[in-house]
Amino acid sequence: MNVLHVVGARPNFMKVAPVLNALKSRPHVVQTLVHTGQHYDANMSDVFFEQLGIPAPDVNLAVGSGTHAQQTADIMTRFEPIALERKPDLVLVYGDVNSTVAAALVCAKLGIRVGHVEAGLRSFDRTMPEEINRLVTDQLADVLYTPSEDGDRNLQREGIASEKIFRVGNVMIDSLVKLLPLAQRQSRNGLPGRYALVTLHRPANVDDSAILRSILQSLLEVNRDLSVVFPAHPRTRQRIAEFGLNAGQLRVLDPLPYVDFLGLQSRATVVITDSGGIQEETTYLGIPCLTVRENTERPITVSLGTNVLVGRDPDKLRAEVSLVLAGNAKKGSLPPLWDGRAGERIAALLAG
Ligand code: UD1
Repeated sequence: MNVLHVVGARPNFMKVAPVLNALKSRPHVVQTLVHTGQHYDANMSDVFFEQLGIPAPDVNLAVGSGTHAQQTADIMTRFEPIALERKPDLVLVYGDVNSTVAAALVCAKLGIRVGHVEAGLRSFDRTMPEEINRLVTDQLADVLYTPSEDGDRNLQREGIASEKIFRVGNVMIDSLVKLLPLAQRQSRNGLPGRYALVTLHRPANVDDSAILRSILQSLLEVNRDLSVVFPAHPRTRQRIAEFGLNAGQLRVLDPLPYVDFLGLQSRATVVITDSGGIQEETTYLGIPCLTVRENTERPITVSLGTNVLVGRDPDKLRAEVSLVLAGNAKKGSLPPLWDGRAGERIAALLAG
């Protein structure tokens, strides 16, 4: 059996690693790894491959950045000949980035079976590019691996046959479980004892100067009571410079490798983010998470976990930080199937 994995952006890498690893122990499975090159900086890509133990990609499509249409189209035109040449029995796509939908669309047109890992998540907000990617990928996929029950329900509501849906749990948590002991041994070099860990990269938060200015202002206020540590996505750094904004006293860092970031998360007093995956990682770690978004495609992190949606309301953010500092942070519990074995469940379904 010939399985081809397509990844492209930072949040894909921690999802593919456990599946690749679990399939390695099935001798009748031949695996091919395609990197689209959507993310290309060493600190957004190579370092994740090293730390997660992902083999070098068999093919790198080197598409780089562009508008959504350009990037998606480039991935499609460069991936099509690879799919034709390699003739996979199944192509696995991960998450909700442009590489996910582009590869799924190519395969659907070529009649190649597609499996979607992390299927069924919905924010119900179509202004988010990822929501479009999720909706389209799930309609095209032949096999849908969901992380949680809400995923199954969303897919059924959209008319997807139950026989195609498999609830396997959260693959991202597999990587966390594996590397947490190493992350906890990371040195605390130069870090304050208590800090708020911040990440921001959603276009809705960083591409508009007034919105980004107001978020930075709120973070500067938080920083008076609790040091803010802010590893910034390249997009966010570019926007701060472009809009002439001032991150003042915030500790702005370059993007961090997976293990280093996990170590920082596990010791944070609170995490403030607009990422999807970080909402899940904080829930697993039991660290309070304040999400700077109006909605989430990962509602289980709110219903069971430590996540609170603060939207873009600076008063709400400040109030929630005060609760954390007063020792009254939201408590959470672990969602079902977040046990480090989701990759193994996918491999068992695929290859026995
Ligand atoms: C993409 C995903 C998003 C995911 C995020 C994680 C889509 C639609 N979005 O967003 O879901 O949460 O990755 O990071 O697929 N850049 C660099 N170096 C890189 C990569 C990007 O400098 O290695 C800069 C470029 O200026 C680029 C910008 O970041 O234009 C945005 O990159 P892009 O891949 O378009 O989307 P992300 O914002 O990273």
